Amino acid sequence: MTTRDTEMTTWLRGLPKAELHLHIEGTLEPELMFALAERNGVTLPYDSVAAVRAAYDFDDLPSFLDLYYQGMGVLHTREDFFDLAMAYFARAQEDGVAHVELSFDPQAHLVRGVPLEVPFEGLLAACREAESRYDISSALIMSFLRDRDPAEALEVFEQAAPWHASIDAVGLDSAERDHPPGRFAEVFERARALGIPGVAHAGEEGPAAYIREAWEALEVCRIDHGVRCLEDPELVARLRDARVPLTVCPLSNVKLKVTPTLTEHPLPALREAGLNVTLNSDDPAYFGGGMLDNHVACHEAFGWTRDDFIAMTHNAVQAAFMDEGRREALLERLRGVASDV
Ligand code: ADE
Ligand code: ZN
Repeated sequence: MTTRDTEMTTWLRGLPKAELHLHIEGTLEPELMFALAERNGVTLPYDSVAAVRAAYDFDDLPSFLDLYYQGMGVLHTREDFFDLAMAYFARAQEDGVAHVELSFDPQAHLVRGVPLEVPFEGLLAACREAESRYDISSALIMSFLRDRDPAEALEVFEQAAPWHASIDAVGLDSAERDHPPGRFAEVFERARALGIPGVAHAGEEGPAAYIREAWEALEVCRIDHGVRCLEDPELVARLRDARVPLTVCPLSNVKLKVTPTLTEHPLPALREAGLNVTLNSDDPAYFGGGMLDNHVACHEAFGWTRDDFIAMTHNAVQAAFMDEGRREALLERLRGVASDV
């Protein structure tokens, strides 16, 4: 999608947004994929950027994940991860994003022979650079692959001890169907014991029961997606009362056929139910747009006003992993935007 330059688009660009659900490997644009393939001597199964983009037609989450894991095969060095993240930060800055929480999948790199220090050091260097170059604050989420052995997740988490102080949260992602979150209770408990909170994908393709399980067994403080909670009214009431943030990704849900069209997306129903909704882009290179595109699409589909977007940005800033000084500064910027409405 290309964002049209309307008055609302300009205003949405100026809104200091916080992106809480972003897979950094899912920001790999085909142009950079080709450049990194050449740099690392990797042969891609496509002969052009257009051919890569044409392949981005997904039936569901697993059909996307096949291409996502294949695409990240071009990432080999710290510099590759640095370049990937800096390319994303440059686009985020153009979109008016003020804070980003980058999730990454260390196991998907380890299985390709890329050691932990490569993504950790490359991404952390990019986060520092984004802070000084763009005034974008960030957090790092180390995610585990739920379709692999939970014992492996625990082992990788222990191996990551040199970077534990740099991890803001642990996460859980990859193929959801038939992969209930409760199996990962031990690694989430271990992280919590070290003061590292947890988040988990749940209720994207999987049932509402997985949201309940992620919340209860993993004690996560946020749910990634969570859109299927509406199938369980009792769960909705509990999530609402506890103000559990849901990091919803509208364009992703359309691309992966979680919802047939954006107008049929459950976002308005989630908000009407009083849930703590935030807007995010998930894997922007694959799903047709970043934070600004997601916001503009929601404005067009649901007729949401400036106040609606201010409210969801407020939710995101409150739910973010950031120091209190930064949170107060962003809340102050939001109050400034709100007073102009
Ligand atoms: N990994 C990257 N994007 C994902 C998504 N939308 N759901 C689950 N795992 C993912
Ligand atoms: Zn995701």
